[in-house]
Amino acid sequence: MERMAGDQSAGGVRRVCVVGASGKLGRYMVRHALDRGYEVVGVCRPESVVKLAEFDGRMTVVPGRTDDPDVVGRAVAGCDGVLTVLVPRGVRGYSTGTAQAVLDAAEPGARLVFSCGWHITRDGRDVYTRRLRAFVAVFGLLARLARFADLRDQVEACRRIFASDTRWTVVRGSDLEEGESEGLPVWSRHVGDPVLASNRTRRVDFALFMVEALTDETLVREAPAIVGRRTPSALAHAR
Ligand SMILES: NC(=O)c1ccc[n+]([C@@H]2O[C@H](COP(=O)([O-])OP(=O)(O)OC[C@H]3O[C@@H](n4cnc5c(N)ncnc54)[C@H](OP(=O)(O)O)[C@@H]3O)[C@@H](O)[C@H]2O)c1
Repeated sequence: MERMAGDQSAGGVRRVCVVGASGKLGRYMVRHALDRGYEVVGVCRPESVVKLAEFDGRMTVVPGRTDDPDVVGRAVAGCDGVLTVLVPRGVRGYSTGTAQAVLDAAEPGARLVFSCGWHITRDGRDVYTRRLRAFVAVFGLLARLARFADLRDQVEACRRIFASDTRWTVVRGSDLEEGESEGLPVWSRHVGDPVLASNRTRRVDFALFMVEALTDETLVREAPAIVGRRTPSALAHAR
């Protein structure tokens, strides 16, 4: 069943932390959060602080690894919302460490929104195409052998999030592309829903969905799989 996000309550969000702020998704999220008038704190690796130069004076940057509990603890203090980019980089549990640090340090009752891909399943009821299954198997193996990334790390990170009693949302992104915003993506609880078939979302809109989720109570403890709202499958199947 497809949903249109944006069914919001007041939310009460004032201060937001973006964990992984310097990447492409992170910087879009910082922009959307500033546009909403939120106070923004960002965590990124020290060598990447320069990538946030365009926001100088408009946000606070806490340099450090996103899986460092001390760094994350300082950054999320006093935040009503935390937006976390989960990246399974390397083979030492970077995603899992990042998710755990956020789960442990976030303020009680804070809205926690995490990013990942369609390959994550919450209840095993997602239906994947043969192409996607092959990609995950082949890319997953090659990336692990090259010690570039470990998709199993993102799986473990999400398992911990799903098991937590925090106010989480795990946003599962389709294939991403750059380009002008098409508006808030459409979502479904399960991959395999025809509304998602186009498998394409603008990165700027992935970020928009993450930021909107902060104030959307209907997304608490949901793992929405998203697709661009102007894609053919969304236009054909979204209500
Ligand atoms: N790319 C896709 O097509 C796609 C599809 C579906 C879902 N997603 C999800 O979307 C989110 C963002 O993905 P993205 O591909 O668009 O990437 P991105 O936003 O550019 O983010 C990449 C992140 O990885 C960090 N990073 C890079 N090299 C690293 C290293 N060696 N060690 C630790 N961290 C490192 C970057 O930090 P620095 O700035 O410090 O380098 C940055 O925070 C992820 O959660 C991903 O699972 C992506």
